[in-house]
Amino acid sequence: MSSGFRIELLGKHDRAAFSSGDEDLDRYLRAQVTQDIRRRLSNCFVALDAVGALAGYYTFAATSVPLTELPADITRRLPRYPSMPAGLIGRLAIDQRFQRQGLGSLLVVDAAARAMRAEPAIYALVVDAKSEDAAAFYLCLGFQRFLSQPMRLFIPIAEIARRLLGH
Ligand SMILES: CC(C)(COP(=O)(O)OP(=O)(O)OC[C@H]1O[C@@H](n2cnc3c(N)ncnc32)[C@H](O)[C@@H]1OP(=O)(O)O)[C@@H](O)C(=O)NCCC(=O)NCCS
Repeated sequence: MSSGFRIELLGKHDRAAFSSGDEDLDRYLRAQVTQDIRRRLSNCFVALDAVGALAGYYTFAATSVPLTELPADITRRLPRYPSMPAGLIGRLAIDQRFQRQGLGSLLVVDAAARAMRAEPAIYALVVDAKSEDAAAFYLCLGFQRFLSQPMRLFIPIAEIARRLLGH
């Protein structure tokens, strides 16, 4: 797992040089995220390296998971509520210079830790994978696909705490 990174809320950080290799994700960080934050549609957390360069970011917002998207081995242990409260990692990107060094995993762990500390209860983390490569990354962390939307994945907080946070 990466170390030496600081994770904080997006503020007046320099975003111009950020390049993940996905132009949509880079443009969103440069041009749109501030508006979404202002409208309370999303939060954005950034990872900074030792010299303060922006190495990665993710957005985090409230969502819900319909019970019908979860497999039977999970719903068997849940009440018959129509949906479960969740935290949505809507976007996650790592600058190309820092990819495949564990930083993406570290940001998912950071989101899980924030979800565990949140005052409204959060049952699961949900992510939208932009590509099969991204889905492979999330599957590797223990996420499972929604039953009817394969590019949307989830992991119960209890599961991620056990797997990645050692609880
Ligand atoms: C996908 C992304 C977020 C992963 O972050 P990362 O810091 O590079 O990933 P990590 O180093 O934490 O990877 C952990 C494990 O996930 C898997 N993984 C990571 N990237 C992968 C990829 N592109 N394809 C398949 N598996 C991948 C690997 O098993 C990896 O472990 P390994 O490097 O020891 O083999 C990052 O590469 C990225 O920003 N890509 C461009 C933008 C993007 O696709 N974002 C996702 C949008 S939903």
